[in-house]
Parts: sequence; structure tokens; C-alpha cells
Amino acid sequence: MTLRTTQEIMHAACSTATVVPAFNIPYLPMMAPVVEALRDAGAFGLIAVARLEWEKFESGSPRAIYEEYQRVKDERYTRLHMDHVPVIDEDNLRVDYEAILTQAAQLGYESVMVDGSRLPLDQNIAATRRVADMAHAAGVALEAELGAVLGHEAGPMPPYEEIFASGRGFTDPDEARRFVEESGADWLSVAIGSVHGAISAAKKREKKIAARLNIEQLDKIRQAANVPLVLHGGSGIPKKYILDAIKHGIAKVNIATAIRQPYEVLRDESIEEAKRAAYEAVRQILRDELDAEGSAQDINPT
Ligand code: 13P
Repeated sequence: MTLRTTQEIMHAACSTATVVPAFNIPYLPMMAPVVEALRDAGAFGLIAVARLEWEKFESGSPRAIYEEYQRVKDERYTRLHMDHVPVIDEDNLRVDYEAILTQAAQLGYESVMVDGSRLPLDQNIAATRRVADMAHAAGVALEAELGAVLGHEAGPMPPYEEIFASGRGFTDPDEARRFVEESGADWLSVAIGSVHGAISAAKKREKKIAARLNIEQLDKIRQAANVPLVLHGGSGIPKKYILDAIKHGIAKVNIATAIRQPYEVLRDESIEEAKRAAYEAVRQILRDELDAEGSAQDINPT
């Protein structure tokens, strides 16, 4: 069996308006039920872990995640992705992102994300460029972010309606064109109205707001950037917006809060029950929110 690379799968998703969901794993035992749910649904998805999930949650380390992935993977339905490795993190601290991303590429992650979105445009381009050659030499696809997808920061967020109405922090199409040309990024995470679910101890159990998406802005970004686009903060966005975004260039949707919260509610009582809850959450999202059941057939045929 010749395996498609993640990059090939993302391009197949783009050209068929199929979504690649990326499910975040903040607790290692969640990985097995997420893989099982993708397989049972016949859907293709990425198993994703962000730096904050080994720093602030319990996914261990890039190596621990990689090893658990080797144990549970099913390459018909899954690939491993390293999500958000920030240049400046959610607490405003500098991160040695090059070292983390180089380790990920050496371990065998098939795609990675550098997140320079807290930097001015020129610095974001330079930081992304710094890891692009390394990633490509290792055969690893690189995601980067332009624009502000808020929510991970501990402090108060501006009122959602204000962010959406003003378009403040949204990805600018002209900047997106320049960013893709100069940074070497293969996929672009864009800001068009979504927000991340909160992760601070005080707020991580809160129900997420139902964000909206500006599809006109997305269309302009897609034309300018001409690479697969990524939507972060996928939990809780009403289905009509998500499906419209997939038709207009979003190839990957990141989902964390919607599977983390059901797992966390039960994990102190029973890990088995918590794993079951994560499994059910993934099945429900694939079936009812993303219309993604059976997608492996279209984008990763064997
Ligand atoms: P949510 O927690 O809002 O689903 O966001 C996930 C995400 O974007 C991870 O990168």
C-alpha cells in the first residue's frame, strides 16, 4: 500500500471541499478513542498536540505523544500533526520554537505548525522562514498563522461581538499573499471570526461562545494565498458556518475544547468512561457537525 503524505491529503481535501479535522490530545489516554472514532466513522483526521498541551495539560512530551501515536495509529484514517508551537506563547514568553520543531521533524511528525501570529508581519515571516527549510528537507509540511485567533490567553478577551463587527485581528488578504510567498508555509491558519476555547484554570470548563465566520473575507484570503487554509477554534461554531467555510477554502478544522471537556468531566471518576466520552464526542462531531463520515475514501484512498 502506498501511503499518501499529509500534504497530498490536504491538497486532495482542498480540491474536493472535504474537511480534515484535527483533534487535539491534551491527555494521552484520549488518543486511542479518537483514532478508534475516526476509523469507525470511516473519516480521515489528524491527531494533533500543541505545546501548551504538554506544558499545561497531560500529553507528556513530543516523544511521549509520538510513541503513543505509534501504538494506536491507523494510517488509513490518521496522521500525526504538531499543532501550535508559538514563537511567543499565550503568557507572552519567548519559546525556543526551532528546537521543538526540529525535534518533531526528527521524531517523525508528518506536519507541524509554527505560530508567529503574536509578532508583527515581518517578524512572523522571518520566524516561519527559519523553520520552513528544515521542515521541507525532512518531508514535513508546515502550517503557519497570520492574524489573531484569540482565546488561549489568560487575561480578559474583548467582547466577541466587538471583535467580529470590527474585524480586528482578521487576516488581511494582501498580507496573506505576501506571507505565503515569502515564508515558505504550506498551509495558512487564518483569522475570520473563530476564537480558541479558553484553557486557563478559571475558564477552561466554561461553555464556548458560538463564533461566526466572515466568509467574504475568507474568499479574499483564499484567492490571495492559494494554499490550503486552516480554521482554528473549531469547537462550537454553528454548522452552517463551518460547512460554508469548507466550501470556501478551509481544508482543516482544529477541534480541542469539544472533546476535552467531556473527557475532563469524567476523568476523576473513571478513565474508561472518560475515553468513551471522548470517542462519542468525536463520532458526534464527524457525523453532525462536519458531515465527515466516510471522508477517508475521498481523500486517502487505498
Ligand atoms: P477549540 O478548543 O476552540 O476547538 O480550538 C482548537 C484549536 O484551534 C487548537 O489549535
